[in-house]
Amino acid sequence: MTIDIISIQPGLLDGAFSHSILKRAADKGLLQVRVIDLRPYGIGKHQQVDDAPYGGGAGMVMMADPLVRCIRALQQEKQYDEVIYLTPDGERLGQQRVNQLSMKAHLLLLCGHYKGIDERVRQLLVTREISIGDYVLSGGELAAAVLTDAIGRLLPGVLNDETSALFDSFQDNLLAPPVYTRPEIFEGLKVPDILMSGDDRKIREWRHDQSLERTRQRRPDLLGEA
Ligand code: 6GU
Repeated sequence: MTIDIISIQPGLLDGAFSHSILKRAADKGLLQVRVIDLRPYGIGKHQQVDDAPYGGGAGMVMMADPLVRCIRALQQEKQYDEVIYLTPDGERLGQQRVNQLSMKAHLLLLCGHYKGIDERVRQLLVTREISIGDYVLSGGELAAAVLTDAIGRLLPGVLNDETSALFDSFQDNLLAPPVYTRPEIFEGLKVPDILMSGDDRKIREWRHDQSLERTRQRRPDLLGEA
């Protein structure tokens, strides 16, 4: 899979994908992430990429022309399955959408800044708009990093059996159960006996019960969907 990311702050994404699981995905050739600097597509001597909004108001708007030229140049070399604009007014990202996107071959992500991008870019070239939650970031870069991480770890071959995504929180609309590792007693707190019992069936049942209970307490909204 390839994920290309258009940004005016490529530095924000430096190193975001060169650690741990995403690094493993890259090393195995399962995921290629490329960050494309929008600046060279800017207009004039100053390579301008933003301008004041028509109708007035605070903030700057990213101009249509540099973005459209950049996207079209990239489309010359690759057929993207989706051109995704990261924006707080997009569809709220959830695990189901991540699962779907992880089955695509080529994604192009567009990071907005300032007051957003000229609406006509959205009309002309964007196929999907995604928000990572109900709060505002100063730009789409960190949202693009979140989306890329969530997708990358799902690619076949990236995780092994032990880290399998099948048991993640949200994969079945349940939160994950509590986990423990050595030592057996820490500051007087003991690991639940059942986990020390060696009885696989009982352990599976306990974990499922704990998942349900945790979800009931913390995220009852998920149980409606389960
Ligand atoms: Cl995708 N972009 C920005 N700027 N802020 C956000 C967001 C995206 N998702 C949540 N907040």
